[in-house]
Amino acid sequence: MPDDKVAAGRIVDLSAGRQRDERAEVVARLLDSPATIAPRWFYDELGCALYGAICRLPEYYPTRTEVALFREHRGAIAEAAGAVRQFVDLGAGDCCKAESWLPFLEPARYVAVDIAAHELRRALDRMAPDFPSVEMLGVVADFQHGLPLDDVLDERAALFFYPGSSIGNFTPREAVAFLREVHGLCKPRPGSGLLIGVDAKKDRALLDAAYDDALGVTAAFNRNALAHLNRRFGFDFALDAFAHRGFYNESAGRVEMHLESKGEQVVRLGGDTVRRFARGERIHTENSYKYAAAEFEALLAEAGFDRVRRWTSPGESYFAFLAA
Ligand code: AVI
Repeated sequence: MPDDKVAAGRIVDLSAGRQRDERAEVVARLLDSPATIAPRWFYDELGCALYGAICRLPEYYPTRTEVALFREHRGAIAEAAGAVRQFVDLGAGDCCKAESWLPFLEPARYVAVDIAAHELRRALDRMAPDFPSVEMLGVVADFQHGLPLDDVLDERAALFFYPGSSIGNFTPREAVAFLREVHGLCKPRPGSGLLIGVDAKKDRALLDAAYDDALGVTAAFNRNALAHLNRRFGFDFALDAFAHRGFYNESAGRVEMHLESKGEQVVRLGGDTVRRFARGERIHTENSYKYAAAEFEALLAEAGFDRVRRWTSPGESYFAFLAA
């Protein structure tokens, strides 16, 4: 990776080569039965803002629970993490969660990784003046296609930071593969580890409300994926023709989000390609897995992490794990 590119823009785009097949992949998933849309399509500029609003909703407990957990245990977690030279923020978004750790961890480098280039640039521009001794680097990448960070990171100890319970948006199998990749990046860098926030299984009513709030922000966030696809690929989804569904599927241990067709309809997907939807037919847009502590510790072990510490929020509602 050329250094001048980093110094000039502080952003490295590792997503560029993958854009060619995006349309084909999106269309294939929509033509499938059941239709699916990958969660990454939530996060255009408006989607990022809507997710920010979700995090402030009274019903959406994960953000404030994690903030309180980290606030209470920040000193102990930072001490347990040891000397962190590179702080690697996976799914950084607006970088606010990581920002609060910088004065405690005092890394030499902050590496923010996210699919949303516009958010990264804005966040790093905002933070850089407050942390003049920290090298700031943004990496645009989609984790669904792996974690291509080996060339971006140097040999110093790295703390990978994956907060917000975003690991829940992978299936457990995908989560292990992702954790294994992180472990693979830790191995050649002695002293490295992973700090991760994980949402716990809990009462159905709390989970249902968190993903189907009274104000309808989560519904707007869900439907915005259709607006994003319309704009990006020229589809003609009618946003008001789909209803938001968000609910806990207890037997699968996950919250599911869907967009449910309110009636029979035909959506144009470019050229001659159309997708017919029956009334009540759903597009599955997201899973958000919830874990018991032991379940998640088993995933960490399977991924190769053999030293794990855990901090738990009151009522066992949320966990932070530090794994090495
Ligand atoms: C980003 N991710 C952890 C959120 C979640 O809770 O699964 C996305 C979200 N979907 C609906 N509300 C929030």
